[in-house]
Amino acid sequence: MSEPLVSLKWERGALVLLDQTRLPDELSYIRCTDYREVGKAIFRLSVRGAPAIGVAAAYAMVLAYQEIEKTVPKGQQKEAFLSAGGELISSRPTAVNLSWAVHEMIRTWDSLPKGNKLEGLTERARAIEEEDKILCSRMADHGADLFKGKKNLRILTHCNTGALATAGIGTAFGVIYRLHERGQIERVYADETRPLLQGARLTGTELMVNHIPCCLISDNMAGWVMKEKHIDAVIVGADRIAANGDAANKVGTYSLAVLCAYHHIPFYITAPFSTFDFSISSGDEIRIEERNPEEVRQIKGVYTAPKDIPVFNPAFDVAPHTLITGIITEKGVLTPPYDVAIKEYERSLH
Ligand code: MRU
Repeated sequence: MSEPLVSLKWERGALVLLDQTRLPDELSYIRCTDYREVGKAIFRLSVRGAPAIGVAAAYAMVLAYQEIEKTVPKGQQKEAFLSAGGELISSRPTAVNLSWAVHEMIRTWDSLPKGNKLEGLTERARAIEEEDKILCSRMADHGADLFKGKKNLRILTHCNTGALATAGIGTAFGVIYRLHERGQIERVYADETRPLLQGARLTGTELMVNHIPCCLISDNMAGWVMKEKHIDAVIVGADRIAANGDAANKVGTYSLAVLCAYHHIPFYITAPFSTFDFSISSGDEIRIEERNPEEVRQIKGVYTAPKDIPVFNPAFDVAPHTLITGIITEKGVLTPPYDVAIKEYERSLH
């Protein structure tokens, strides 16, 4: 694979998405000119990862405006815009970046003068994309600084948090990328991340493309790897962080946090401000997306279990703040007590 991995791009009034469901077998793109197609792509995980979903949703709101402006009478346009936003938000409930981006576009609508808003909305979506790149780079710096003076690091990560999950170099993966640039990585252990294998398919690809020394493990090997391979830290992303620091991320993250506590391994979450949900006091309030049982019964369309076996398929779980060593943000690393640190962080954003 020689082309750089770019999760999405805005091209002549259309949103072009790299179809991540087809990786690593093929690089194919979906050209969306209708916001509903973006909603479907988000639901299917053609575009996925909390920040990338946010950026895709921002552009989807531009697509919605393009349609509304031509087809809806002036007096009803705002209502139609809000309704498109609601549809997009419902495509995946856990990653708060999605509703953050939609609300950001609605705020932009309100701030624009009467008349055609296409340019203003497009500019805002572009700014969200550009900002995400900067946020990734800052998180990478702050995260890598945690390991100053350390060499031969062995880092374990879960799911995919890199260029495919963001508009930049990634959240947790960005930290790994920066550590690799600084010559500090001995090996990255990547969980394959069942049921949809974002770790094997996507992080595996990103590690190989970037020539980062790596080793793929199945999820159930993580504990043994911690015991046998001396892991220096586990670094993962997040889809929604509550005001007390509880962090929702790809299912399997909770188990890693528990394993880290047992093995005395630092457990870091990496996320930008758009992943924080300051309105909820704890992870108990996070709605966990449950997905199609077939994702567990099958691997790449082939049944690996009885076709009618009952299945539980939560896409995310919540790591309690008590198990989190630090939350790496674009402004620095938050540490316990998280309720205090997150309040201060929220204040610093205004
Ligand atoms: O279901 P996915 O693939 O969208 O889940 C992605 C994750 O859980 C990531 O860890 C998370 O979005 C943070 S990443 C940038």
